Amino acid sequence: MSNKPHILIVSELTQPMLDALAEHFTLHKWWQADQPQLLRDYATQIRGAFTRGNQGISGELIDSLPNLEVISSFGVGVDAIDLAKARTRGILVSNTPRVLDECVADTGLGLMLAVTRTLCTADRFARSGEWLKRGYPIAWKMTGKRCGIVGMGNIGREVTQRVAGFNMPVHYFSPRDAGNPLWQRHESLIGLAAAVDFLVLTLPGGAATRHIINAEVLKALGPEGILINIARGSVVDTDALIGALYSGQIRGAGLDVFEQEPQIPAALCDMDNVVLLPHLASNTAETRQAMASLAIDNLLRYFREGSVNTPV
Ligand code: 8YV
Repeated sequence: MSNKPHILIVSELTQPMLDALAEHFTLHKWWQADQPQLLRDYATQIRGAFTRGNQGISGELIDSLPNLEVISSFGVGVDAIDLAKARTRGILVSNTPRVLDECVADTGLGLMLAVTRTLCTADRFARSGEWLKRGYPIAWKMTGKRCGIVGMGNIGREVTQRVAGFNMPVHYFSPRDAGNPLWQRHESLIGLAAAVDFLVLTLPGGAATRHIINAEVLKALGPEGILINIARGSVVDTDALIGALYSGQIRGAGLDVFEQEPQIPAALCDMDNVVLLPHLASNTAETRQAMASLAIDNLLRYFREGSVNTPV
């Protein structure tokens, strides 16, 4: 019998990641197991859990693993992990900050351009042969527009670097002063929305930020405003967003994340002023490799020396 520590793999992972983990750990694949049976056979042996940012781990599952010591998450967002429960149980939690900031910010810029220049509808227009029949409708300029960032953390800062190349003044709303006199801080989210053309969401998800982007904020963003969400679906009141898009209260939206992933409301799919992505902001070969190395190394380090590189 192998003496490798037993790890619960909460959500589906790529084969190379499973292979890398299997070198050091005995793996139990929760997503494809007979779950009650797995718990009966191994609950007391499992000392670590490996999950993904968008999947997390519930308090109920944590409760059913009496000897769980460490949770390593592949992703920066920890809103789907029952952190209060983990804390009460003294379970160490780690995530993968920093290594994905650039790709997530890149995706934000891609969405900004795609929405404002209507690149996705233009692509559909070109492919379908419509161009043979008529010219493509006019779009809008991005350079020089005002960029509002909600949550000036590492990803927000990466966005500021990119929009500088588009001569966009930066405004933001964040619990802390970001310490850059060139960026205009706003005391309220509505104040920020009213002052900008793009509202780019880079804040954490979770109960504290649920539906922070509501009908009032969208109204303040106004008919030339564009909402970009590269944070979590939960931060936006989806019904309010659909209403604002339909009525022209805002110009458009670029969304990488949704409230009920992988479900996307049909109303959003029907609208041409919206660009929709399947939660892919960090999904590049380079970044996923870096996230995997960090997340696996967190577990290895824990079992070697009782600590992790990037604790939450
Ligand atoms: C990933 C994410 O898509 O980092 C996060 O919090 O949501 C994304 O980078 C996810 O964690 C991987 O499944």
